[in-house]
Amino acid sequence: MRGRPYLPSLLRHRYRGAKAMYTKILVGYDGSEAGKKAFATALELAATHGAELYVLAVCRPPEIGDDVETEAVIENSRRHHRGLLAELKPAVSAKGVKAHFELAVGHPAEQIIYDADRHGVDLIVVGDRGRSTFARLLLGSVSKQVVQYADRPVMVVR
Ligand SMILES: Nc1ncnc2c1ncn2[C@@H]1O[C@H](COP(=O)(O)OP(=O)(O)OP(=O)(O)O)[C@@H](O)[C@H]1O
Ligand SMILES: [Mg+2]
Repeated sequence: MRGRPYLPSLLRHRYRGAKAMYTKILVGYDGSEAGKKAFATALELAATHGAELYVLAVCRPPEIGDDVETEAVIENSRRHHRGLLAELKPAVSAKGVKAHFELAVGHPAEQIIYDADRHGVDLIVVGDRGRSTFARLLLGSVSKQVVQYADRPVMVVR
């Protein structure tokens, strides 16, 4: 066994001064029941690990309509999502977590992954379902795509 590193000493070396497991956590928030559960879990994790929390709400632009109409719909949606995010602020303050509330316009999964890359988060949290009235699927399309395409850990909260 000479020459073979002794495991406990390797572990000591590896974990001495180890960084916190999570330093930045991003949660996708759409105001749904599942989204609320995902947010609560992300907040709890952030508090436990002393991590920064990014809460992202994505407004989907309408697929049809002229430019003026589209602008108005997006503005309306931004206002709605801004309101959803504002409701979360007291819970975040109560936990003493440093949080960033963000709004984006586009495809939710794409924006969640883009934002996670941009901030270099080490965990993405999403709910299993969202606001869709047809809750027939096991997993919503947004959470499915985030799990499929993100190149970092994803937690789906059920
Ligand atoms: N617009 C959004 N902005 C931010 N996060 C979102 C958004 N939509 C969904 N999410 C996140 O993804 C999770 C799953 O929602 P998803 O949209 O996949 O389910 P669904 O609405 O039931 O199904 P679908 O949208 O495919 O009809 C939500 O709990 C939330 O965490
Ligand atoms: Mg949805």
